[in-house]
Amino acid sequence: MFAVHSERGGSPELQRKRVWRETEAMDSAQWDERYSTSELIWTGRANQFVEKHLGDLEPGTAIDLGAGEGRNAVWLATRGWTATAVDFSQIGLDKADHLANEHGVEITTVCADATIWAPDAPVDLVVVSYLQLPAEQQRVFLAHAATWLTQGGTLLVIAHDRSNVEDGYGGPPSPDVCYTVEETVAPLAALDVTTAEVAERQVNTPDGTKTALDTLVIAQRPL
Ligand SMILES: C[S@@+](CC[C@H](N)C(=O)[O-])C[C@H]1O[C@@H](n2cnc3c(N)ncnc32)[C@H](O)[C@@H]1O
Repeated sequence: MFAVHSERGGSPELQRKRVWRETEAMDSAQWDERYSTSELIWTGRANQFVEKHLGDLEPGTAIDLGAGEGRNAVWLATRGWTATAVDFSQIGLDKADHLANEHGVEITTVCADATIWAPDAPVDLVVVSYLQLPAEQQRVFLAHAATWLTQGGTLLVIAHDRSNVEDGYGGPPSPDVCYTVEETVAPLAALDVTTAEVAERQVNTPDGTKTALDTLVIAQRPL
């Protein structure tokens, strides 16, 4: 059984893993190492913007790209989606499977590099949640993901905004793996962008409530 905790809590072992090499993009072995704890590194609850903006969508097929321990894929599965969690950390995906079992749902897990992987068939939803990559790799996978959608299909991107490094709480200390609204929207020219903003996320900490700044972009493939 994995313990569930807030993003910044956890045991001393977990906190050591969390701060390790947050300053740069991490490879799969580093993410495997980071996930090799009995606790969840992240919370088991879906991201608040995922819950808010996708809760009313008719379930279909979904990809959670850079799914980690699978909180968003599992939430989608509990709402009737056929969800595929893609990540290059097999240890993260093993925890995603475990979380799905705990919730009594099934998800498909795929261990692959998000910058080169592609689904076999178009999907109704792609969720990208805090996939920390350098800007050039962001541009590559976003351009790919924009082509994966069915007509009317939705792409939701939530990520640490670059302004968060100076002005917000938590997240990577390096701007190199953060996002901007402008750079996120740019590869999505074929989609209708319905939300493109820096969203404030309130985080409960031992020192009170802090504000994190996220890039939030939601787009649909035209009918
Ligand atoms: C900050 S975690 C976010 C996990 C999850 N989306 C969430 O919101 O809880 C970033 C995830 O991206 C994955 N990741 C980073 N680069 C990747 C790549 N090139 N291909 C696939 N997964 C990658 C990591 O393994 C990690 O699980």
